[in-house]
Amino acid sequence: MILKERIELFFTQDIDKIDRQSAIQTFNELKFFLNVGDVRAAAPSSAEGNHGGWIVNDWVKKGILLGFRLGELTDVSIDEHFKYFDKNTYPLKKITLENQIRIVPGGSSIRDGSYIASGVMVMPPAYINVGAYVGSGTMVDSHALVGSCAQVGERVHLSAAAQIGGVLDPIGAMPVIIEDDVFVGGNCGIFEGTIVKQRAVIAAGVIMTGSTPVYDLVNAKIYRKTKETPLIIPEGAVVVPGTRAVTTPFAQEHRVSLYAPIIIKYRDSNTDAATVLEESLR
Ligand SMILES: CC(C)(COP(=O)(O)OP(=O)(O)OC[C@H]1O[C@@H](n2cnc3c(N)ncnc32)[C@H](O)[C@@H]1OP(=O)(O)O)[C@@H](O)C(=O)NCCC(=O)NCCS
Repeated sequence: MILKERIELFFTQDIDKIDRQSAIQTFNELKFFLNVGDVRAAAPSSAEGNHGGWIVNDWVKKGILLGFRLGELTDVSIDEHFKYFDKNTYPLKKITLENQIRIVPGGSSIRDGSYIASGVMVMPPAYINVGAYVGSGTMVDSHALVGSCAQVGERVHLSAAAQIGGVLDPIGAMPVIIEDDVFVGGNCGIFEGTIVKQRAVIAAGVIMTGSTPVYDLVNAKIYRKTKETPLIIPEGAVVVPGTRAVTTPFAQEHRVSLYAPIIIKYRDSNTDAATVLEESLR
């Protein structure tokens, strides 16, 4: 049976009755392919049923959840002072100098079962969870999170405290996708399967979830998640944090407005200058 079929079968089985040895072997195979980037939680595709050019491999998330069910709490302490306890199926990713990833010392963790391309830079403290995919030349800055199964392209800048949500808890269908050359500003939160297309710029402090409508002032359009499609931020859009008026009489009386991400413009030379990446840091 191919890996996908074995995972789907084990996923349906009662964990107390499962053949642990072959389930763990299957899970380890999945992690091997995730680690080298040959299997992804979502992958670019123009096949039927794609969302914004991406197909979700649901069985990968099932495999990751299977790993949590199979895992046993183990002492993974560094010494008697630095005590850690985690599931034995989820150690840290084994990284060597040959991987050519810069991991600046101090408080970052990269979980096994994630793919990190060479040339990625991780500033402390940052966390990259299982199933995540991070493309070459990307900077994961301090306090940034790359959540479970999130797909981050090449030359992306995840600024300080940018939070890219995962799909495991609470359980979500679609991982967040950040395409190549996107700039995500400080303190942003991108959650619930949002797709950010190439070269878009997300200004500091923008939060986007599956429930957040995004107002495009340039094209006079509103983007939102539907039953069939996730929230998709168009290529090159510059999204800033804004507000929209609430129009019920009570809200008007009290001047209530709601937070709203706004596409104020599309990327131009000003934006390029404001978001240029410093080559010498890489
Ligand atoms: C989005 C950003 C890059 C600016 O983009 P830009 O293309 O240079 O924007 P411009 O300066 O041309 O501004 C265009 C319009 O958007 C408005 N605008 C720009 N950034 C804005 C923001 N963050 N919030 C609200 N409005 C903003 C400007 O006021 C201007 O409108 P106006 O003409 O009515 O005054 C910048 O706001 C930003 O968020 N930088 C990231 C900072 C950061 O997180 N750094 C990481 C450190 S680790």
